[in-house]
Amino acid sequence: MKITASRTSLGELKEDVLVVPVFEGEHSADAENAPALAALDHLTRGAIAAVFDDGEMSGKRDSWVLLHNVGEFSTKRVLLYGAGKPEKLSTTTLGRLAGAAIRILIKNRGIRSVAFLVPHRIETEQFVQAIVEGALIGQASGELYRTKTEPTAAIESLDLISELPDSPDFARAIGLGTSMAEATNFARMLGDEPSNVMTPTELARRAQEMAEREGLAFEALGEDEMKRQGMGALLAVSRGSQEPARLIVLSYKPEETGSRELIALVGKGITFDSGGISIKPAARMEEMKYDMGGGAAVIGAMQVIARQRPNIRVMGLVPASENLPSGRAVKPGDVVRSLSGKTIEVVNTDAEGRLVLADAITYAISLGATCIVDAATLTGACVVALGESRAGVMGTDVALIEELVRAGEESGERIWPLPLDKEYGEIIRSDIADVKNVGNRTAGSITAGYFLKHFAGTTPWAHLDIAGTAWTDKEKPYLAKGATGFGVRLMATFVLNRALAR
Ligand code: BES
Ligand code: MN
Ligand code: ZN
Repeated sequence: MKITASRTSLGELKEDVLVVPVFEGEHSADAENAPALAALDHLTRGAIAAVFDDGEMSGKRDSWVLLHNVGEFSTKRVLLYGAGKPEKLSTTTLGRLAGAAIRILIKNRGIRSVAFLVPHRIETEQFVQAIVEGALIGQASGELYRTKTEPTAAIESLDLISELPDSPDFARAIGLGTSMAEATNFARMLGDEPSNVMTPTELARRAQEMAEREGLAFEALGEDEMKRQGMGALLAVSRGSQEPARLIVLSYKPEETGSRELIALVGKGITFDSGGISIKPAARMEEMKYDMGGGAAVIGAMQVIARQRPNIRVMGLVPASENLPSGRAVKPGDVVRSLSGKTIEVVNTDAEGRLVLADAITYAISLGATCIVDAATLTGACVVALGESRAGVMGTDVALIEELVRAGEESGERIWPLPLDKEYGEIIRSDIADVKNVGNRTAGSITAGYFLKHFAGTTPWAHLDIAGTAWTDKEKPYLAKGATGFGVRLMATFVLNRALAR
């Protein structure tokens, strides 16, 4: 989809459809409050006023009306889309509006080009970026393997029409929104791929393809190298599988940077989580192909970073493995030695994410990381606690957590803090080893976070539990079912902001 911004006057649009956000309280007869609606009504010889007069459009969020053949107007269709109360508008709600509008329009085979009216009250770079992200993310579907696709037409162009004659240059906002959205869609695709395709080897291959295209350094450690280094926690998880594990490392370095700061983004890359010997129930086990959602988000965030070129060093690490039962698999009660030297009692083989992350975090520190952010579909408990709309965040550095919370609000990928007091650490004390990989039934997300804290040590670190946000099993007006790519925009925004703040 080619995205442009222009000041074309409404009467001269050539697109197949014009999308107009309508706020509650607006009416085309009220030219002062709704100048664009009034102008449009004039151009369409009253077609717009009729919709308002008949009460078909009140501006309520997610209500919409698609008008055809609106008089002499150069654009044949107008989509009026409810934007809700103007004071409730945010970049998130506007992005979702754009996504929902695109999803309505892709079901209409005749539409190739879309004009989107950017309401005068929100003509800012942030809102333009949000529209771009929402539209591109709304357009992508997860039906990777449908052979008989409905003849839906891809939308080829989106022109953002400014109401104000002196609107700023939106090229930068369009560029940033496009790279955020393309990376999010890339991460979604990785998560939607079934695990027979998306093996650790394939995940590494896709990451390498991206790295070569975008100009990042790429490396992937194999199991021999992991053994040589002593990554006993990661290797314990992959033991049960025929597919070899990989530790993917992507590195970004700006041309010149005086700072020795090195941010490590670490993402859980379990390409299928059966639970291992502590096997999961069959119901919804198929969804566990997205247990590499944290890894996908890291790979996506690295793509944004490669394109935006912030003035800070960043690396992305993805410990990738399957978690399967077999005659060779790690068993409950087994003790393994991690890369850090700490010994771990594996009480439950289904708590595998923290095992692969433990070694990846230690490896990040050995590569010189001065700040670590990990993202992982780590615990069902986090889904219970926070549901699908916010991820959990915990860590050892209050300022880092606050930065992430802010990046979450800004990017629309919102998070909420959970505590890591040392009492929680007592729950995962082992009788035989330094730590065990599960606690009791209480505070499951926190004890998982606490486990990771053992490996982060004194390096400033934060952990994002994205188990609830990385997947949606219901289609949203603005988003197809499946992997959401959650974490791409959050982590990329965090890195870009940190580079600017220095
Ligand atoms: N990948 C799962 C967590 C998960 C659950 C993600 C539901 C998305 C949706 C993780 O590896 C896991 O199995 N965690 C266990 C931990 C338990 C054994 C302490 C869980 O949450 O049940
Ligand atoms: Mn598991
Ligand atoms: Zn898992």
